Amino acid sequence: MSELSQLKITHQSGQYEILVGKGLLSEVADHLIAIEVNGPIGIISNNKINNLYGDPLRRSLQSAGYVTRTILIPDGEEYKTLASAEQVISALIAQGMERSGTIITLGGGVTTDLGGFVASVLYRGVGLVHIPTTLLAMVDAAVGGKTGVNHSAGKNLVGSFYQPDLVLMDVEVLSSLDQRDRVSGFAEMLKMGLIRDRDYLDFLITNMDVLLGSKANEKIIQAIVRSCELKAEVVIADEKESDLRRILNFGHTLGHAIETTLGYGKIRHGEAVILGMYGAGWLSNQVGQFSAEEWKKLSELLVHIPIQVAFDELDPIAVEQTTRLDKKVDKTQLNFVLLKSLGEAHMQTGIPKLMIKLAIESITKAWREIG
Ligand SMILES: NC(=O)c1ccc[n+]([C@@H]2O[C@H](COP(=O)([O-])OP(=O)(O)OC[C@H]3O[C@@H](n4cnc5c(N)ncnc54)[C@H](O)[C@@H]3O)[C@@H](O)[C@H]2O)c1
Repeated sequence: MSELSQLKITHQSGQYEILVGKGLLSEVADHLIAIEVNGPIGIISNNKINNLYGDPLRRSLQSAGYVTRTILIPDGEEYKTLASAEQVISALIAQGMERSGTIITLGGGVTTDLGGFVASVLYRGVGLVHIPTTLLAMVDAAVGGKTGVNHSAGKNLVGSFYQPDLVLMDVEVLSSLDQRDRVSGFAEMLKMGLIRDRDYLDFLITNMDVLLGSKANEKIIQAIVRSCELKAEVVIADEKESDLRRILNFGHTLGHAIETTLGYGKIRHGEAVILGMYGAGWLSNQVGQFSAEEWKKLSELLVHIPIQVAFDELDPIAVEQTTRLDKKVDKTQLNFVLLKSLGEAHMQTGIPKLMIKLAIESITKAWREIG
């Protein structure tokens, strides 16, 4: 087997491993045998990823005697819905999926979220193995046990906490990733450094060009492993998202509002998180303890990450209104994850609504200035 980085994740009801390496797709069966997966396997993917990576995965599984079915969902955030989940469930049942079976998700965060949700509700829970294929899904969506689908009232409003049995990350698949999706994943790694680990943050800044490049390399493996480790530390300490885990939402309150306001497909999740981290960083400096010197460093870093956002289509008033609808925002007061310093975050309550408006304006102003 190829050389691997391994991370053991312990949670309330057991443990699983995250394996990161090159060429893992063609040896998936060996890893499933090692954790005693026996039943039929339902692969959930989309057309694009299935065309790129479905065959080596199926070859590995079938050569070890696994019975596989592949269910394809349309590509796109707008298909991460209960309706899609129901279609997948119907197809799996029609094709003989059993209670002892295992779902493999092969795709980005949309696929891991939707497939994880299906695995959690089908027969009240079947086996689940994630094979995330975007950087964002590797460092974020596939780690931590949150699954879900969107609802017309908002993003990720329907979901469950459901831990996988195994997560396999083959960094070679990142070579086909669009540059915008690479940036999107980088944003989530930056977030982990910003809220938890100053050294990791410095590593990301120093190696930014290599990490945003398309070649599978040791640096990207190192960065993914550390990001997963940091996320796992937070999740293990607070599996059901009460207090500590909320710091993972740094940049996401404004980010989600921007994403929702612009509409799916207009902005990548991580691009919105970059803007949201700018707004939250600005707030941290204005109403919190984040020093002017560190804010300067952070703001200069964020505005220089290449993102493609149609600011002309972004209505700051609509963003502010959507921010108040965020399920993570308390009804009576606005609570925000702010930075104390680079590498340390905390939850701050009672942020005046006017400051949120100004934070949103600070974002549009900063990106308009750089053109
Ligand atoms: N559950 C969680 O904790 C969590 C955390 C963060 C994000 N998310 C969710 O993740 C989703 C975003 O994930 P995403 O950014 O991966 O989006 P995505 O799944 O839509 O993938 C982005 C695009 O990249 C394509 N793609 C995937 N892998 C590829 C590859 N190797 N080569 C070429 N193209 C590839 C996809 O088909 C898609 O077109 C959102 O729905 C978000 O809510 C969940």
